[in-house]
Amino acid sequence: MVIFINGSYVSDDTKISYNDRGIQFGDGVYEVVRVYHSTLFTATEHFERLVRSANEIEITSPYSVEEYIEICNQLIKENEIDNGTIYVQLTRGDAVRNHTYPTDTQPNILLYTNTAERPMQDLQQGVKAITTEDIRWLRCDIKSLNLLGNIMNKQKAVTNGAKEAIQIRNGIVTEGASSNIFIVKDDKIITHPANNFILNGITRRVIKQIADAEGIAFEEFTFDEKVLKDADEVFLTSTTQEVMPITEIDGENVNQGQVGPITKRLQSKFDEHIITNHA
Ligand code: PDD
Repeated sequence: MVIFINGSYVSDDTKISYNDRGIQFGDGVYEVVRVYHSTLFTATEHFERLVRSANEIEITSPYSVEEYIEICNQLIKENEIDNGTIYVQLTRGDAVRNHTYPTDTQPNILLYTNTAERPMQDLQQGVKAITTEDIRWLRCDIKSLNLLGNIMNKQKAVTNGAKEAIQIRNGIVTEGASSNIFIVKDDKIITHPANNFILNGITRRVIKQIADAEGIAFEEFTFDEKVLKDADEVFLTSTTQEVMPITEIDGENVNQGQVGPITKRLQSKFDEHIITNHA
């Protein structure tokens, strides 16, 4: 497989330095971009978010959005990716370990491809989730490499036979360990506002566009665990999980364990979006 590191297309056994600040501090940001039938999906939005995340931690992106898209297309071609993802990681660069930002280093940029089919069975049947305390930092809007809180909660979900951990901070449902969370109540879609407590998901934005076009109310409000558990429908969104129904939370059925009608409608419109929208 061919990967891209700091300006060169190289073999996937190429190493990065132990002095990379991403390794030592998680001092960097990342993106996961979807590829459907060898075509990038919402890539502009992903790379704009990468540049924003980098700026928030005072890393200057070495490439423009258009340049990132060119690199991705080259990797898709080289690695003959049909359905898959591209992982993009931008760190502050190599420096002798010191908490303070180094002033004389160049960022390290890494892109590689994965093959990944759509999770069709789960999309049709729905998945189980658990609720758990949101133990992450207060800048969840930055897509930071520091994912300890997320991975600990995801592991807890899997250990408990579920696919996702719905995180709750001070009684408020924020988002999943690797997804945004939505409820449907009285035909309205409700999700946490896009502030520092969640990542403003690209799939979330697509859902907002679809809801607007379909005339379905899309409201950004905070809600608590009781409202979550009383919802008519619950679903999550992410680049890899798309519009994924949640049919069980903490062992209790949502919508009698069935995928609800609004979730199904969004899924079908999302499918159309995949076909019609390219980078
Ligand atoms: N995760 N919230 C969190 C904490 C996430 O990690 C993700 C995505 C999302 C959804 O964002 P988007 O729709 O832009 O993928 C929300 C990616 C896929 C990951 O870490 O693998």
